[in-house]
Amino acid sequence: MKSKHILLLISYCYCWFTVTSPAQSWETIAPGIWKTSVGEAQPITLVSTAGASPDLEALQKLSPADFPLDQKLIKAEVINGKVHLRFPLQRNEELFGLGLQFKTHNQRGRIMTLHVDHYGGQDNGRTHAPVPFYVSTAGYGVLVDAARYTTVYAGTGVRTDAEEPPVLRDRNTDKAWEAQPYSDAVEMLVPADGTDIYVFAGPSMLEVVQRYNLFNGGGCLPPKWGLGFTQRVPTLYSDQDILKEVSDFEQHDFPLDFIGVEPGWHSMAYPCTFEWDETRFPDPAGFLGKLREKGIRANLWLNPYISPKGSLYSKIQPFAGSHTVWNGLVPDFTLEKARLLYKEHFIKNHIDPGVSGYKIDEVDGYDQWLWPDVATFPSGTSAEEMRQVYGLLVQRMTAEWFREKNQRTYGLVRASNAGASSFPYVVYNDYYSHKDFITALINSSFIGVLWTPEVRASKTAEEWLRRMQSVCFSPMAMLNAWADGTKPWTFPEVEAEVRAVAQLRMRLLPYLYTAFARYHAEGIPPFRAMQLFGRDEYRSSKEKGQFNSTDNPYAAYATKEIRYQYMMGDAILVAPMFAEETSREVVLPPGKWFDFYTGEYVGEREVITITPGLEHIPLFVKDGGIVPMIAARNQMPGPDEILPLEIRHYGRSSGQSTLYDDDGTTFNYEQGAFSWATMRVEVNGDDLRGSIIIERPEHFNYAQEVRWIFMSRP
Ligand code: GAL
Repeated sequence: MKSKHILLLISYCYCWFTVTSPAQSWETIAPGIWKTSVGEAQPITLVSTAGASPDLEALQKLSPADFPLDQKLIKAEVINGKVHLRFPLQRNEELFGLGLQFKTHNQRGRIMTLHVDHYGGQDNGRTHAPVPFYVSTAGYGVLVDAARYTTVYAGTGVRTDAEEPPVLRDRNTDKAWEAQPYSDAVEMLVPADGTDIYVFAGPSMLEVVQRYNLFNGGGCLPPKWGLGFTQRVPTLYSDQDILKEVSDFEQHDFPLDFIGVEPGWHSMAYPCTFEWDETRFPDPAGFLGKLREKGIRANLWLNPYISPKGSLYSKIQPFAGSHTVWNGLVPDFTLEKARLLYKEHFIKNHIDPGVSGYKIDEVDGYDQWLWPDVATFPSGTSAEEMRQVYGLLVQRMTAEWFREKNQRTYGLVRASNAGASSFPYVVYNDYYSHKDFITALINSSFIGVLWTPEVRASKTAEEWLRRMQSVCFSPMAMLNAWADGTKPWTFPEVEAEVRAVAQLRMRLLPYLYTAFARYHAEGIPPFRAMQLFGRDEYRSSKEKGQFNSTDNPYAAYATKEIRYQYMMGDAILVAPMFAEETSREVVLPPGKWFDFYTGEYVGEREVITITPGLEHIPLFVKDGGIVPMIAARNQMPGPDEILPLEIRHYGRSSGQSTLYDDDGTTFNYEQGAFSWATMRVEVNGDDLRGSIIIERPEHFNYAQEVRWIFMSRP
């Protein structure tokens, strides 16, 4: 016993390690990305569990960059079996990311324990995607690749040897005394005896995020149908109820691309059998075929916990954890055998008959029903690690099944983590604050996940319309009627406006699909925070010098939390409205901005107050912005359709933009079956001219004859 202790002590001393010699310690793994390892190598990490390969070719295209931090100031030590980390912070830095938070953007000054869980109303680190990655306004990012409940002190702790200690103040006499004194570091406690750390260079915050996403394989490119409207039907709907729902959508002339089938398709749910309920779905393949005849796909709800009534139960038993969830087994998906059993069953019973995707529920928490931290798993993976990666494991596994069939999927998941950028899944939850949903949408852009502010029910027609407007400007336009059976036309007084915004989303397909293609190819999030808008507008403090009101023209924008507005693609600024609010402020970044609907000039580098009517979600387009659109339709186009294009130009400046296309459903784009077009508008006084150059026109499913619309022509 004694000798074991001595041995342990020696090994701790060995792991006592401070990163002081940068050239040896930080390995360059791609331009602008460095890695170091502290202490013992861990069998499970977030990035390795997600399993994406860095897109080195795309990373090469980003500008080369120097290591963005003073390496001497980065400290990493293993003390008593836990990693203690310390990264420097400058006075003006703000920190974004650190998981999917719902109420705050800037995380500086906050303490969080990053823990996969259902969001409980507080930004304390327990959330659906507690990604241990932060992006600084100083133009760099840090990822601590630990599948652990990592505690982050994001500029709160003050060491005796601080580089920049806080001012000493006497509370008796000094009104400026602060309970939370100034801190010059981000510190983290990783409850493991080792971890990998990555540093991502900018110089802009956008480039940091691009590098992060490309390192994780590039963002996902959904099938086109995934960008259409989706309705999730009440839990106990049968095949006939669903077919009736589809024809109701037709009658209401409302867009619909896929139906979400909630727990009632299982013969038993919570835990699940993954077998069709014969009373509600007597002929699954026939039902799925009928949906497809109408151009509709089906997405199946599940939680991964297998019921004793399911045929998989006994097969999974040897590969399941020590604890049950609602009496269901928890498969250890780190084991290939467990994955293969699911694969065989799911492909045979769901995917082959025509299912197009899944909604992966309950992989986040709550503690009361998930496995506790004392649970064990046959692979030896700890309960804590399993909790942190379970959502990643199920996303990866299911995404691979579809990929093997050369079929793209797009689904929902309630837990994710670092490494997930390329997964075709959108995070959602049961929380329902409209404003906090928008905060989450903005925050998702810093951490490589997608988020939908799903609509369920509303108290008033106004709230309904406002929620529908914002969900149509998010990664997944979804009405989740699992509990209450709401329909888009539930409030007849706003049915026309709801239809109009859903159709506007359909019209924007070429623009939106291109935004996702850039997420894939360049790592630029399709929906993103204002801080990630462009490279010049939000240059880092380092490049522009310290923020102050005299020499940095962007100070007002870069140092203030910009709430409730975001970019969709490169050109469109979205400023959603909320129920009972008739006016709002919109922060217009540098450059002139124009109203999307009228083309009128609205302002430039200023905060405007708008009083929009109910009918529209406020949208603004930057000067020279180019927005390719199609005619309104209720379903996304199939691979053989050639659609007429309408290309809008806004403002008074010349502009250039790209338009991506491919077959919209397969992975053939990875073998070169895609097309990029360059759209250009030249402005010479009153003369505006548009042109388009199409590369590989055989993969371009739009008519080459384009209708140009100059929205801001005097
Ligand atoms: C919840 C989920 C809802 C709905 C419901 C069905 O856990 O968040 O969106 O799917 O289960 O029981």
